[in-house]
Amino acid sequence: MLNFRNGLADMPSYDVVERDWKIKVNANECNMNLPPLVAERVMSRLSRVAYNRYPNEEENALAEQISRNFHVECENVCIGNGSSEIIEKLFYAFGGSSEHKIVYPEPSFSMYGIYAKAAEAKGVPVPLDEDYKLDIEKFIKVVKESKASMAVICNPNNPTGSALTLSEIEYIAQNISCAFLVDEAYIEFYGQTAAGLLQNYPHLIVARTFSKAYGLASCRVGYMLASKEIASMVEKAYMPYHMNVLSLAVADICYQMRQEFVPHIQMMISERKRMAKELKKFEDFIVYPSETNFLLVRHPSAVKLNKALMEAGIGIRSFGNAPRLENTLRISMGRREENDAILNFIQGFFEGRV
Ligand SMILES: Cc1ncc(COP(=O)(O)O)c(C=O)c1O
Repeated sequence: MLNFRNGLADMPSYDVVERDWKIKVNANECNMNLPPLVAERVMSRLSRVAYNRYPNEEENALAEQISRNFHVECENVCIGNGSSEIIEKLFYAFGGSSEHKIVYPEPSFSMYGIYAKAAEAKGVPVPLDEDYKLDIEKFIKVVKESKASMAVICNPNNPTGSALTLSEIEYIAQNISCAFLVDEAYIEFYGQTAAGLLQNYPHLIVARTFSKAYGLASCRVGYMLASKEIASMVEKAYMPYHMNVLSLAVADICYQMRQEFVPHIQMMISERKRMAKELKKFEDFIVYPSETNFLLVRHPSAVKLNKALMEAGIGIRSFGNAPRLENTLRISMGRREENDAILNFIQGFFEGRV
């Protein structure tokens, strides 16, 4: 008999429908591969990898580069297999029993609830307002009243696209004393990072990823900036040699050449603005303001529209019956021609042509 750990069978999984989409805009990835100059440097770097050795200096080299950029020490930086690994380990580090409460907004990144369960912590979602804004006073109150061990904010928020200002983030940091994670997976599309607050708020943690703006989703690399105390506890939760050298080497080059990614980021932002304007022209279409590389839209026929898009090979993200996300769809920004094809398809759908 297979005797699995309690609760595992009931654990929800991250449900994204994946297939060989003609147009793939369902995972908030970057819609372009590496800039040619970066790709060239990556290939050259990979030809010098010591494949026979466990990773050694590569993780430190990347952490050092990141620490220099943020004017912190290397010990304030943790590298992870995507920010996913970092977030999961933070939930583990601050979880462990139902008395360890972890507070996060809802709707937000669906993995927070799953990581809380996996870490045997008690997840405490705080509902966003009608227009998907976070009531920060309410959030602070819940964190205090629940005596939370960690509070989490996704800024800008996935899947709503909404963002808190830096002063709102600071206000939260001032008013809570537990660990405070700001998940900045989409920050490059917004610009207002909380990293500068780390110096004054040692309970603050900033998680970042190479998967979105840097287009390195395949490599699974993210990082965290935090106090030495928090960083060293997260390091304890990692397995030995948890990062692979290939991903580290690629991320190292991409970070060195991060200026090369600016045009990609700008293109995604301008496509988001254009798409928001175009989508608003469809009757009954609500397009929520976004500071990311995706748009959340609402329409009474969203379920039917999603089905039709899927049948046409266009993969966008639907959230099924997730709380507060009924009749919504999330569309990551594709390339201009892909976005035009999506707009044409939606027009055809409403005109009864598809
Ligand atoms: C808000 C948020 N945080 C974290 C992640 C995880 O990203 P990764 O593990 O690729 O770094 C995602 C991915 O979609 C995300 O949307």
